[in-house]
Amino acid sequence: MKALILSGGKGTRLRPLTYTGAKQLVPVANKPILWYGIEEMVTAGITDIGIVISPETGGEVKAKTGNGEKFGATITYILQEQPAGLAHAVKIARPFLENSPFVMYLGDNLIQQGDLSYFLKQFQQQHHDALILLRTVDNPSAFGVAKVDEQGTVLELIEKPKIPPSNLALVGVYFFSNIIHEAIACIKPSARNELEITDAIQYLIGQNKQVSACRLEGWWLDTGKKDDLLEANRLILDTSLQTLIDGEVDTSSQVIGRVKIGSGSKVINCTIRGPVVIGEHCHLENCFIGPYSSIADKSTLVDTELEHSVVLEGAKISGIQQRIIDSLIGQRAQVTLEPRRPKALRFMIGDDCQIELT
Ligand code: TTP
Repeated sequence: MKALILSGGKGTRLRPLTYTGAKQLVPVANKPILWYGIEEMVTAGITDIGIVISPETGGEVKAKTGNGEKFGATITYILQEQPAGLAHAVKIARPFLENSPFVMYLGDNLIQQGDLSYFLKQFQQQHHDALILLRTVDNPSAFGVAKVDEQGTVLELIEKPKIPPSNLALVGVYFFSNIIHEAIACIKPSARNELEITDAIQYLIGQNKQVSACRLEGWWLDTGKKDDLLEANRLILDTSLQTLIDGEVDTSSQVIGRVKIGSGSKVINCTIRGPVVIGEHCHLENCFIGPYSSIADKSTLVDTELEHSVVLEGAKISGIQQRIIDSLIGQRAQVTLEPRRPKALRFMIGDDCQIELT
C-alpha cells in the first residue's frame, strides 16, 4: 500500500497567503497542515509516500518536509507542471505508484486523527476497486457530491453540482486499486479543463467495478478558506494540545489552562488563556492571548489582545486597542496602531487582502 498526498494546486481561496507560500504549509496549531496527513499515513502503517508538488511552491514543501525521515516514512516528490486536476495528479504519479493500491489524500484536508486506519482496514479486507469517504455537509454545492442508494451503494458522483442530489460530500481521502489508472486513461477533461477524480470513479461505477462508500463520522475540514482553517486550529488545539512551557514567563504573567510556549520565547506581563500555542523565539509583552490562538515562531506581539486567531511566522502586532479575533495574520505581516491624532487609517494592503474594521 502506498500513499499519494496532493500538495500542488493553485490555492486561490486562501489568497493572499498563497501568493507567497503553499497553502498546505499554512500551520494549524503551529504545524503545517500537510504534516498531519503524513502522520496519519504513518500511523496507519503506510510509509511509502508520494507528494505531488507544483513548480511554484514545490521547493518550499520539499525543503520543509524533507525526505520523510522525521516522520518515519520515505517521501518521493512528484512534480505536476500544471494544476490539471486530481486525476491528472494520479496520472503523473503512475511511475511512483506502479501497480500498488494506494490512498489518495488531499494535502489541505484534515480528518480526525486515527480514522484513516479504520478505513484502510475496510478497503483491504473487502477488496474494493475504490473506496470513498462521505460526510454530510450544509453546502454540498461546494464539493464533489455522491448519490447513494438505500444500501449505501454509490450510484453517481458529481463535482460541485448546482442542484446537489444529496448532502453527502466526498471527503478528500480516497482508496484505489490499480484499476483507477485504466479509468483515468478513459476520461476527458471537464468543463473547467481538469481531469476530475469524480469522473474517473464514475467511470468505474459505469464498468460495474466495486466502488463503495463509508461514512465519516469524525470531523473533516477542507482548510482552503480562512474560517475553515481557524476551525481546524480550534479543533486541533482542543483535542491534542498539551501544556509544555520551554520559554521564559515572568512573574507578572498569568498562564491559565493548556498552553505551550516554545524555547527562546519571552512572555512579559501577559495573560495567556489556553488552549494556546506559542512557537519559538517569540516576544510577547503586555498582551492578552485568548483561547484557540496559535502564534508561530519569531512573532512579536506588544500591547495586544488576540483570541481565536492564527499568527504566522515573524508577524509583528503592536498597540492595537481593540481585541483581534477570528483572524489569520500572514508571515512577516505588521499590524500597528499609530498613536497620533487626528485618527486616520494608513494602509499598504496587498492584492486580495480582506480588512474588516468594526
Ligand atoms: P483544491 O483545493 O480543489 O484546488 P486548489 O489547490 O487549486 O485550490 P483553490 O480552489 O483554493 O484554488 O485542491 C485540493 C488539493 O489537491 C490541494 O491540496 C491542492 C491539490 N491539487 C493538486 O495537487 N493538483 C491539482 O491539479 C489540483 C487541482 C489540486
